[in-house]
Amino acid sequence: MVSIAIVGGQWGDEGKAKITDLLSAKADCVIRYQGGANAGHTVMTPAGHFKFHLIPSGILFPETTSIIGPGTVIDPKGLWKEMQGLLEKNISLNNLRISGLAHLILPWHIDIDKATDQVGSTGKGIGPAYTDKAKRIGLQLFTFLDRWAFRDALEKSLAHHSFELERLGLSYDLDQVEREYLEVFENLKAHVADTIQELHEARKAGKTILFEGAQGTLLDISFGTYPYVTSSTPISGGACIGSGVGPAFIDYSLGVFKSFITRVGGGPFPSEIEAERETAQKLRQDGTLWAEYGTTTGRMRRVGWFDAVLARYSVRVNSFQSIAVTKLDTLDAFEKIMICTSYRDKRTGWVSEDIPCLNASWLSNYEPIFEEFPGWLSNTHGCNDIAQLPANAKLYLDEIARRLGVPVSIVSTGPQRADSIILHDPTQG
Ligand code: IMP
Repeated sequence: MVSIAIVGGQWGDEGKAKITDLLSAKADCVIRYQGGANAGHTVMTPAGHFKFHLIPSGILFPETTSIIGPGTVIDPKGLWKEMQGLLEKNISLNNLRISGLAHLILPWHIDIDKATDQVGSTGKGIGPAYTDKAKRIGLQLFTFLDRWAFRDALEKSLAHHSFELERLGLSYDLDQVEREYLEVFENLKAHVADTIQELHEARKAGKTILFEGAQGTLLDISFGTYPYVTSSTPISGGACIGSGVGPAFIDYSLGVFKSFITRVGGGPFPSEIEAERETAQKLRQDGTLWAEYGTTTGRMRRVGWFDAVLARYSVRVNSFQSIAVTKLDTLDAFEKIMICTSYRDKRTGWVSEDIPCLNASWLSNYEPIFEEFPGWLSNTHGCNDIAQLPANAKLYLDEIARRLGVPVSIVSTGPQRADSIILHDPTQG
């Protein structure tokens, strides 16, 4: 029995779904605890290529219970589309559970997000839906169980936004919105459950539970590069808030980091190398199936070298016990590999390996200091045993572990499940 939080240590897109999928084989239950369809997770299995937005990737295992948790925000139409995509591929949804406490994304949330975004959002209505939750005017999923209460809540929500919607020139046919939502709810109804109870029963029965984070630590609303962040709490503490369990419930915190770093959307990015065009294209792996373009929006991801300062911060705010390093094979092509090992304060010249705060204007006072490491210029793609790695690749992983102060437990060397080196299996505690 073990409960593991799997959390992105960077700005999302670290390959969490691949790691979750890998560990799901030994898990009884997987829960998504925050965010919405702003996430885009790709999993490649022998049975095919799957893209997830809200449904936990544990759904690929028929015996595993997959939960969309209380801390998420749900666009019912988008979710139903995702469910249909899985059904078309013969994936059973019998074990999919949806918390009635999750908040609804309404059509005006999506339109307001697109019309007013300042940070390069995914345009999925995430910010406006979480704003309504915090303002205590949001609609929880279970509202639809009473169609009159649902209608009433829809009217109140629309009225609340009327001033802004008028300013933006947006209007809605409320009868149509109600009809469309109630139609979709008919398909979701059978999956709505008391997910808190399910989690606690699973724990009591000695089951292994995975808490699947979306986005990443540096996008966390409280601890990320504010204001260039998402509206939820991806860090490991968010697994409690978004699921309905206390801290003692979670035994293990696993951080997932890419062997380099990427970011989609606006905001500070100290180790970015976009200016070095050729290196950036190589890191982005342009032209490959796993090139660095957003799963949700198709946007090109900005790329940079591994930032150990930000990663140390991530380890701290998540209490990571070990880390998974993904996409090691991307670095195969580099003669020299850089790590951002410290920041220099541009005002005072002070150099530090640690940063106390990631606020965007605070970060702009710092510049990155890089150290060079020798590459290995040989193929690690598909390696599944540490002994197969070239000496310099092992040195690179050791260097990351040393700088972060936590061991590397998993190394991913390609998109398939089998392309993985497991040094320590977190499901064993
Ligand atoms: P929002 O979550 O759509 O409000 O977007 C806020 C910021 O988070 C934007 O910079 C997005 O690009 C970024 N973001 C949201 N979800 C993801 C993700 O799954 N991966 C990477 N970036 C994301």
